[in-house]
Amino acid sequence: MKVYNIAIDGPSGAGKSTVARSLAARLGIAYLDTGALYRAVGLKAMRENWEENDAFVSEKLKHTDIGVSYDGGKQKVFLDGEDVTEKIRVDEVSGWGSRFSALPSVRAALLGLQRRIASEYSSVLDGRDIGTCVLPEAKYKFFLTASVDKRAFRRYNELRSKGLPADYEKVRSDIEARDYRDIHRAVSPLKKADDAIEIDSDDIGAEEVVQKMLSCISE
Ligand code: DC
Repeated sequence: MKVYNIAIDGPSGAGKSTVARSLAARLGIAYLDTGALYRAVGLKAMRENWEENDAFVSEKLKHTDIGVSYDGGKQKVFLDGEDVTEKIRVDEVSGWGSRFSALPSVRAALLGLQRRIASEYSSVLDGRDIGTCVLPEAKYKFFLTASVDKRAFRRYNELRSKGLPADYEKVRSDIEARDYRDIHRAVSPLKKADDAIEIDSDDIGAEEVVQKMLSCISE
């Protein structure tokens, strides 16, 4: 069968990764979590305390290798050969990833990798600019949203269920700050593609979202 791609964009915490992973498994295709690539850059920036300056970062990226591999369908992310799959999941790294993802050099460096994977494998890609910039020709495009309160509440519960310290107001203000940065950056901002189908996940669970997507696809 011909390679095809499904783009799922939307703000942080809307449930994109859960839905994308499940949709990919249901369709028997690959899942690429593109946020993980930005987080890997964010992790290196955090460790080395990079300046948030495009020329500086562009130079650093010449000596940075980001890669992905699949282990039993699970995506692993590598930074300069080190498996950082778990290390990129903490909020501090996500803040660094969000700040550095606004730089043109970072976006350019990760664009080729995303397109190469998408051209090799039928896949679901989730991110912020998949439908608008990375794969404007994707066969199916979805934009998954949810209110700030709902997203903050889910993240707060997730932290608590892992036994991690969680302050609801802090979680909410971090999400708002990330939204602002993702929407207002000059290059590839978070934006619904004109031809994307919007799904609001405020009052429905992940399974229902996946069912809606599957029914759009089968139509
Ligand atoms: O989806 P996530 O929270 O793992 O993404 C981490 C950061 O990476 C997020 O703040 C925005 C950025 N990102 C992006 O700019 N473009 C993408 N396609 C995916 C993520």
